[in-house]
Amino acid sequence: MSDNPRVTQPHLQVLGKDDPHRPRYHFLPPAYWMNDPNGLIQWRGRYHMFYQHNPTGAFWASMHWGHAVSDDLVHWEHLPIALAPTPGGPDEDGCFSGCAFDHNGVPTIMYTGVRGQTQLPCLATSGDDDLITWTKYPGNPVIAGPPNNEDFIIFRDHSVWNEVGTWYQAIGSGIRDQGGTALLYRSDDLVNWTYLHPLAVGDQSATDPVWTGAAWECPDFFALGDRHALIVSAWDGHEPHTPVYFIGEYTDHRFIPQVLGELDAGGHFYAPQKLIDAQGRRIMFGWLREARSGDEQIEAGWSGVMSLPRILRLSPEGDLAVTPAAEVDALRQDATHIAGVDVHPDDRQLLTDVKGEGLEIEASFMANDAALFGLRVRCSPDDDEYTVIAYDAETQRLIIDATHSTLNPKARGEIRSAQLALDEDELRLRIYLDRSVLEVFANERSCISDRIYPERVDSEGIEVFAEGGSVRLQHLTAWQMSEITP
Ligand code: FRU
Repeated sequence: MSDNPRVTQPHLQVLGKDDPHRPRYHFLPPAYWMNDPNGLIQWRGRYHMFYQHNPTGAFWASMHWGHAVSDDLVHWEHLPIALAPTPGGPDEDGCFSGCAFDHNGVPTIMYTGVRGQTQLPCLATSGDDDLITWTKYPGNPVIAGPPNNEDFIIFRDHSVWNEVGTWYQAIGSGIRDQGGTALLYRSDDLVNWTYLHPLAVGDQSATDPVWTGAAWECPDFFALGDRHALIVSAWDGHEPHTPVYFIGEYTDHRFIPQVLGELDAGGHFYAPQKLIDAQGRRIMFGWLREARSGDEQIEAGWSGVMSLPRILRLSPEGDLAVTPAAEVDALRQDATHIAGVDVHPDDRQLLTDVKGEGLEIEASFMANDAALFGLRVRCSPDDDEYTVIAYDAETQRLIIDATHSTLNPKARGEIRSAQLALDEDELRLRIYLDRSVLEVFANERSCISDRIYPERVDSEGIEVFAEGGSVRLQHLTAWQMSEITP
């Protein structure tokens, strides 16, 4: 344990143990509030996850950096809080999001220090290989303010990388009346930074294929295959909106996006960040926001869940492919296999051998002529509660309909959808159900996540359905997933 006064003890007391909505195989702190993943890094072989954390309650306030470590991306050990605001310092009102990187063997963090209305880049380094203790650079902040050539909306969150000995960082921002941007800086020593230009600028008047926001939070810029990718969280000026990716060319320190898309269309996945591990994998985590009321979150004693680790790849078509990390398979237990179910037009069948609230389901459908088909999960016996995971063949969209997911009027559910063209009429789904968490991956390409809060203890059924035609469920395997915390 550290003698650094800025490092406080972790809150090891688990709150919400009896809450039926508290996930069991997704990461979350023992108690209280969590938002963005921060400082993701593999260090000395171990995966470190930091995260935005309020250690005083299940509501957003007083941002600290919580910390956990894992050998396998799935089982996590909670560690002491890594960064806390320093009274009188440039981060006295909060340690906002940032990234971690290796500076000649020294683990280093760039984060946003908040003092009053000011949000500025700050550095911290760690002297121990477990990344437990962090020392803030006494000359913080390392940049005095945003460039003054434009009217910038925000100035926070950092992506730092090295190009042949020179450091670069992109800072999240927005140009008023124009759109989101990531401001590019250069440095030889991480302490003295020169502003170059926007790495890229979005157009807030465009909505197709996705609205990229008034400002970009949490930029993350990295090489992906023979291209570069920029991931940002589109902010609408008031609250989180959509995580967006751009894929394109990076030349002369300018990024020219060619492909643009939504990283997760569910509306509850936000502020993702990636790490690059020793195998060269781009592994992304994101914050799965709650969908129930603030009062219910405070009462539950916990708020915010981390997504499963998602692997990012460049698809052969030059688009972004997102799949769950193979490590998640280690949680599978008790497989149930179902082979070949033909679902007739406008029919629905309960899969009597499978039920639960902590499952992985792998399913393959042959589309036939159904207009809409898929699964209903967390179904109560008499249709009081259910959540639909469907494919709309006409619009070629994957849909999550959570409008009937709960009887609780305060845990709102919506219909969300993502563009998905099928290959040879086959829909392959990987569905992760973990109490209030639902993550759906389709055709090794897209993913869409949601939060659902069924009230009934018997809302555990799984049904297959087809509308406007027939569908064949070619096979389905369901596993009960083991808990990651005792
Ligand atoms: C994104 C975000 C970041 C900020 C942090 C504060 O969710 O708003 O822009 O650094 O959360 O907690």
